[in-house]
Amino acid sequence: MLINISQLLTLRSPGRLGARRGSELKELGIIEDAAVLCVGGKIVSVGSSKDALRDSWIRKHRKKILEIDCAGKVVLPGFVDSHTHPVFVKPRLVDFEKRIEGASYEQIAAAGGGIRASLEAVRSATKAALADKVSSVLREMAAHGTTTVEAKSGYGLTVDSELKSLEAIRAASRRWSGTVVPTLLGAHVVPKEFQGCSQKYVEIVCKEMVPEAARRKLAQFVDVFCEKGAFTPEESEQIFAAAKAHGLHVRAHVGQLSETRLPGLLQFDPASLDHMDHVNDADISQLSGGDTVVTLVPGANYFLGLKAYPDARRLIDAGVPVALATDYNPGTSPTISMPMAMSLACTHMKMSPAETVAAATINGAWALRLGNRKGSLEPGKDADLAVFAVDDYREIPYWFGANHCALTACNGGIEND
Ligand code: NIG
Ligand code: FE
Repeated sequence: MLINISQLLTLRSPGRLGARRGSELKELGIIEDAAVLCVGGKIVSVGSSKDALRDSWIRKHRKKILEIDCAGKVVLPGFVDSHTHPVFVKPRLVDFEKRIEGASYEQIAAAGGGIRASLEAVRSATKAALADKVSSVLREMAAHGTTTVEAKSGYGLTVDSELKSLEAIRAASRRWSGTVVPTLLGAHVVPKEFQGCSQKYVEIVCKEMVPEAARRKLAQFVDVFCEKGAFTPEESEQIFAAAKAHGLHVRAHVGQLSETRLPGLLQFDPASLDHMDHVNDADISQLSGGDTVVTLVPGANYFLGLKAYPDARRLIDAGVPVALATDYNPGTSPTISMPMAMSLACTHMKMSPAETVAAATINGAWALRLGNRKGSLEPGKDADLAVFAVDDYREIPYWFGANHCALTACNGGIEND
């Protein structure tokens, strides 16, 4: 039982199914001097400390209850980081320096850097070594308040190394008390063995990677990097069709570097479309009428040193459900910090602190189709909570670059204290 909580952000949405849109993003359902009781990994009750202390069940079992005093602290649903690429071996420091000297992400990729520069180390790593990398990242994420993580493969790009990456994610997730949602990103980029014959590679993704990942239940989603220099919209649709045929959900990286029209992809009912720096009005209006979440990842814009950021205001004001994620990866966003993503969204995308909280919790949960279990503190939901040593939730994005997370509970288990 967390008790004497100065500010509890419940994010409750009674009777509401689906991600939040427009002004709903600002409703945090704040309770002051609050308590949350969790039993068996689930939330049982949420209310005032006074009511908790008067409750007859709590009084009867008081001695058996682990009580955590949260005076002077903010408690909120654990962050749902709905877009990460944790299966890589080394940072890409040469790319980092080249970009500082003026090269663009596309120029670095064309010269043999970028995603292709991460492949060899993953192909030759053991599954155990990759699992150790993922494990330590999951622990670090929990230390910053994250309790649910979507984790993509995508730095192997052979059948064996993509499956090995997904197995590493599975092994790491078994050692962590948080929730991991695995995604096959075999279509991250066309590996150099297939340059000039991308269709052959797409067939390997569709006919070998997707069926095998589905058969072995190693992935829940299939992702595609739909972009110039990666996969065309037609190839992306082929991969989406294969995913659906094998019972997997889909999501895509789209509109990061250039605009792609969305109706073709939207036919496959993606849970989320991510990045979306470039998008036109007609597609925004289609998105506002659907359930696909748009996941914004400002860490990538920051780390690439871009002047422009995704136009969150245009999306939110049009009624598109928006989530925030770190996009943790070695090339464009080496951060595990959801508070950092929230801070960038405030300062560079003009989202209010309250909007960033909803985007990083309940809407992230819907972007993973987990909105009925995660993302808010309501009886019956999973006991995923983050405790921050601040008086006011707005301090979470305010103190950028610092970690004020004091404790994280994942499915009722204390992961970070
Ligand atoms: O989300 N855009 C594609 N994938 C990653 C970048 C991966 C990399 O550069 O290693 C992204 O930004
Ligand atoms: Fe990404």
